[in-house]
Order: sequence, then C-alpha cells, then structure tokens
Amino acid sequence: MTVCEAPGKVYLFGEHAVVYGEPAVPAAIERRATVTAEPRSDDHVRVEAEDLSLDGFTVEYSGGNGDRPDVDVPTPLVEAAMGYVDAAVEQARDAADAPDAGFDITVESDIPLGAGLGSSAAVVVAGIDAATRALGEPLDRRELADRAYRAEYEVQEGQASRADTFCSTMGGAVRVEGDDCEPIEAPNLPFVVGFDGGAGDTGELVAGVGALRDEYRFAADTVESIGDLVRTGEELLADAVSGGDPSLELLAELGELMDFNHGLLAALGVSARSLDAMVWAARDAGAHGAKLTGAGGGGCIVALDPSDATETALSFTQGCEEAFRAELAPEGVRVVEP
Ligand code: MEV
Repeated sequence: MTVCEAPGKVYLFGEHAVVYGEPAVPAAIERRATVTAEPRSDDHVRVEAEDLSLDGFTVEYSGGNGDRPDVDVPTPLVEAAMGYVDAAVEQARDAADAPDAGFDITVESDIPLGAGLGSSAAVVVAGIDAATRALGEPLDRRELADRAYRAEYEVQEGQASRADTFCSTMGGAVRVEGDDCEPIEAPNLPFVVGFDGGAGDTGELVAGVGALRDEYRFAADTVESIGDLVRTGEELLADAVSGGDPSLELLAELGELMDFNHGLLAALGVSARSLDAMVWAARDAGAHGAKLTGAGGGGCIVALDPSDATETALSFTQGCEEAFRAELAPEGVRVVEP
C-alpha cells in the first residue's frame, strides 16, 4: 500500500490569463489531498472517496473503457471526482507500462472541490505518485507534474494550464508561463481564505473568458494587463527575503496588485456576488489586498493579513461558510508512511 499527499494552492496572481500564455504565480497551501493506492490481482479499479464536498462513496468498476460505476449518488458529482481519478490511473498505467494494472484507491481531502484551491490537481498529483510508486515505478517530479497536467488537460477538455498541477507537485510558490514552469523564492505570506461553500465550473468559466477575448479587443487587453500585473508582482517577490516574514511595505504593494487583479477578473465576468462580498469584507477589515482565487464563479477568495481581523470579519460575513488561515506549504507532493 502506498500513500501520497499533495497540497492545494491559492493564486497570488494570474489565473485565467495563464491559459493564454501570460505568467501566473500560484502558491501551495497546507491543505492536502491524500491518495492511497494498493495494487490488485485483477484489472479493476475500486475507489473510495471521502470529504470531497460530496457524500462519501465507494465504487468498483473494471478497467475497460466506458464501463462506468453504478452508484447511488448524483451522477455529475461522481463523474467529476471519478474523471480525475480515472485519468490519474491511466497516466500511472502508461508511465509504468502496466496497462492492465488494477488498484484499490482511497481518496481523502481537506480541499473543497471546485472552489479555487486546486483540489483536482492535488488528487491527480497524489494519485499518479501513489499508483506509480505502488507499481515500483516512481516518477521524478518534473515527469509527475507533466503527467498530472496531461490528466487535467484531458478531463477539462483542453482547458487547463500547468499552474495547478506544477504547484501541487513542487510546493512553495511557482511561476508558470505556458510550458515554462519554475519554483520561485517567496516570503512567508499571511494568506487568509474565505470559502462561500460553493464551486464554479472551471470549463465554463474558462470558455466564457475565451469568448469575451475573441469578441472584444479590450477583453484581450485585460488578459494582457493581468500578465503585466503578474510581472510587476514577480519583481516585488524577487526583492523579498525568501522564507522570512514579509515587510509591511511589501504586503501593501502585493495587496494592491491583488486588488487590481480581482478587478480585472471581475471585468472578465468570473467573479460572483459572494466572492465580491468576501473580498470587500476582507478589505474593510484591513487586509492588505484580496482577490478571488482559481476559476471563480463561486468558491474561495484569498486575502493578505498578518492579523486576525480578516479571518474574524469573514467568519461573520453573510455568504462565507468557512474562513481560515492558509500557511504556505513549502513541500509539494510527498509519501506518507501508512
Ligand atoms: C483554475 O484553477 C485556474 C484557471 O487559470 C485554469 C487553469 O489555469 O487551468 C482558471
């Protein structure tokens, strides 16, 4: 039995624009998805999933294409979770050259699904790592990140960047621009997350931005402006002391860029009333800046605040179901001793 866990992430800057080749800076956070893989003697895959913002379920199905599980929970939720597990298993079989490998897989996660914290990327990264290790064919991190990206790309029908999967694999803060992915140095940023209890449809939201960009020159300019903003943010981070506490001046500057980034994302139609309410509650509480994180449409915001004020204010904000401090996760995917 092999157990691996991978972190979720917040976007400091750059979601959506990264899909069009602009840079983005996500940062891994200490909320993890844990995947256990146990090889079987047949080619079946049995999946037990809990805590995925859906009722726990257990399904068993054979490895054959088109053979879908028969379970008594809403099909779209099962499809959403199963699609990523399926894709991870396929990548592991391919990497280990074991097309008929079967597994008992357990998924546990404290990252809400579809909420902008990279839950699917964490499940895919931990899943491929656990399954390849269980077959005795561990991958190096770059190959693992690449295969996890391919799995997400397939499930999301081509609408995925490398940002979430690379960040979850490597941990810490990373910079992604097209196929170019690198870990970057970052100070210990005081992230506070607000979660509205909902989720956005990443595919639909990405397609919506694509349509606006095709229709309006100023929407394309907005995407490019996000890229400019990210480059400015990167320069600020490059001047900061890695791993140390950031200065108030740096927090103020990064926060201002986050506010700007939220405004540009809202202009592209991917914010929501609940996200705007949480962003404003954070700003009113004195956060240095706040923005939605991930695809938007619902889910999470991220704010910068070293004090308790933002977390407290969010916990009293109508529409905010959960508020928590999110520590930077310096370590990406890792093996857990069972
Ligand atoms: C979703 O977490 C982030 C998006 O930029 C899509 C992607 O990068 O794959 C909206």
